[in-house]
Amino acid sequence: KAIGILGVPFDKGAGTRGTDKGPNALREAGLIDEIKHISSNIDVKDYGDVHYELMNTNGRKIHNLNDLSDVAACNKALADQVEKIIKDNRMPITLGGCHSIAIGSISGVLRTTTPDNLCILWVDAHLDLNTNTTSPTGNMHGMPASLLVKELRSNWPTIPELEWCKADLSLRNFCWIGLRSIDYYERIMMEQYGIKYFDMRDIDRMGIDKVTNAALKAINPNGDRQLHVSFDIDSLDPLFANSTGTPAGAGLTLRECLFLMEEVHRSGTLSSMDLVEVNPLVGDVRDVTNTLNSAKAIVCAAIGSNRSGNSS
Ligand code: ARG
Ligand code: MN
Ligand code: MN
Ligand code: MN
Repeated sequence: KAIGILGVPFDKGAGTRGTDKGPNALREAGLIDEIKHISSNIDVKDYGDVHYELMNTNGRKIHNLNDLSDVAACNKALADQVEKIIKDNRMPITLGGCHSIAIGSISGVLRTTTPDNLCILWVDAHLDLNTNTTSPTGNMHGMPASLLVKELRSNWPTIPELEWCKADLSLRNFCWIGLRSIDYYERIMMEQYGIKYFDMRDIDRMGIDKVTNAALKAINPNGDRQLHVSFDIDSLDPLFANSTGTPAGAGLTLRECLFLMEEVHRSGTLSSMDLVEVNPLVGDVRDVTNTLNSAKAIVCAAIGSNRSGNSS
């Protein structure tokens, strides 16, 4: 039941500035207190923000990777910190920051378990599976999944700054929910690798209950793996989370996301989580408040807050 919150005020993997303001906006909106109120036996520690040395390469682009040095430096420090939180016997919840921070967060988890023992639920409007050669933007928040899987290893050049990232997950251990904005080459890779996903059309057809349980079953058929949820707030419809840099319309409702995360909690397999892409510089005060409320509710649902009430 012990939880460790870690802020990652980092936005250089995104094309829009401002996700670095996400962690503190969530704290100021009372996230930690709301977690404490879920139940009396919840134990939450705020580890503060990850510290790393900014390279200040000022947008330098190498191999079509924008701000590679900063993305690499931040994620290296983040991986160390996530590993430490797990060794403190706490479940790390990483607050972004842009989605490039999944590189460090998941790499940290992988230092404490085997790739086969870990499965990933990626809740997102986007696939984030671009490599440096397929990315139309060079923004690394569109690439984290591809840096973490062995199937795409040979598609990447040698990148000295990312040598520490030895993630060896299989795409078979990933499932995506909420997809509706896929780049051309990402679509080709989805078909080529037989990627597991439930896009918005699948949710329309099946409903969120069947989708959630099919997704969890697909990546954890025997229920013996630990689960990492990488939750991008832009999976939500902009009605519920407009303050994000790459919004996509016709998305998940807050109710669908709460159900999804309640089921994740009920599975008893959740071992780590990211909540990314909250950008308090996008939209007006109401948009920001709305987005922060959605984000808080999603984190709380993942760790046991229950719309049917909590009795302990
Ligand atoms: N696919 C687009 C790209 O590669 C958008 C990625 C958006 N990713 C995100 N984590 N919000 O640039
Ligand atoms: Mn996204
Ligand atoms: Mn994403
Ligand atoms: Mn508005």
